[in-house]
Amino acid sequence: MKALVLSGGSGTRLRPFSHSMPKQLIPIVNKPVLEHVLGNIRDLGVTEVGIVVGSWAAEIAEVVGDGSRLGIRVTYLPQEQPLGLAHCVSLARTFLGDDDFVMYLGDNMLPEGIAQAADEFRAQRPAAAVVVHQVADPRAFGVVELEPDGTVARLVEKPPHPRSNLALIGVYFFTPAIHEAVRSIKPSARGELEITDALQWLVENGFRIKADEYRGYWKDTGQAADILDCNERLLADLRPGNLGSVDAASQLGDRVRIEAGARIVRSRIDSPAVIGAGTVIEDCHIGPNTSIGSGCTLRATRVRDSIVMDGAEIAHGPGLRNSLIGRNAVIGAGLAGAACHTLVVGDHTRIRVAA
Ligand code: DAU
Repeated sequence: MKALVLSGGSGTRLRPFSHSMPKQLIPIVNKPVLEHVLGNIRDLGVTEVGIVVGSWAAEIAEVVGDGSRLGIRVTYLPQEQPLGLAHCVSLARTFLGDDDFVMYLGDNMLPEGIAQAADEFRAQRPAAAVVVHQVADPRAFGVVELEPDGTVARLVEKPPHPRSNLALIGVYFFTPAIHEAVRSIKPSARGELEITDALQWLVENGFRIKADEYRGYWKDTGQAADILDCNERLLADLRPGNLGSVDAASQLGDRVRIEAGARIVRSRIDSPAVIGAGTVIEDCHIGPNTSIGSGCTLRATRVRDSIVMDGAEIAHGPGLRNSLIGRNAVIGAGLAGAACHTLVVGDHTRIRVAA
């Protein structure tokens, strides 16, 4: 089996980050979403991975490289415009050959992994298998209706009046039957070749599609609140450790990880939290539920329930909560008199918060 990971697209919902980095590279517990995805694929024993990339191809290649660091072999498949998930399958035709493959959306987090769905697909080998999850409001997703035996009866992309609460959650297993389906469909109302329509074509042409319900934690990381929620969820399983230096005047919670070369001075770090390599934390109160990237400097400030990306500098603020701070952002003291702020700040943005 091969893997096809979709990491193109524009990610406009995640502005301002989508102006300066692809959403698939947003760090969750200091590791890009895409690396979490590739880890789940490697855990299936799949090592041949095609990654569809758009305008952020260079940034993605800089992080993932040839994949050897992650135990996989990566082939980059450029997509000039985000013409849809089924378009990605057709542009990957040569890479995929006649192999079965798992298609995985590069912005979907399934931290419990996809081994069970993969095992069932390999054992039963239906024409295709989809991974579904019960959601409260399925209107923003592909929605699946099932027969009583768990076979897919119907799929609709983002229906205004969903007839089930089962959403497609970004993982699909395909046999080569999908290629004829992709060739047969037309662009949807939003102008994209929808994989949901290709799957529906298979159903209508007598192919069997299985659905596996994923009961673990799942997030489509398209929005800032989802990213913070996901960070909090993954921090709960953090392996603690101290590879940096912590002075005698600092206090660390029991589920805190300090990466190599980080320095903690006169500070308190509440669990769970991770402090990236080479970061300096002085006179701060950090955590809980906080990931600070590498090469950051934080002085005399309070940060909780937040993600601070590599190279950011924060000093003398009244405190940050539920915030996403982009790479190399600089936040300093400003006017006196306000309480906490909630910020979503893009890369290289500079903000003066109330002191
Ligand atoms: O998150 C699950 C949902 O993902 C499913 O329920 C929907 O059925 C499915 O269509 C998809 O919907 P979205 O509208 O959320 O897809 P999005 O545009 O966010 O793209 C998903 C990933 O695929 C993302 O990593 C970007 C990448 N992509 C997207 C398009 C349209 C590409 O690489 N190329 C593309 O042409």
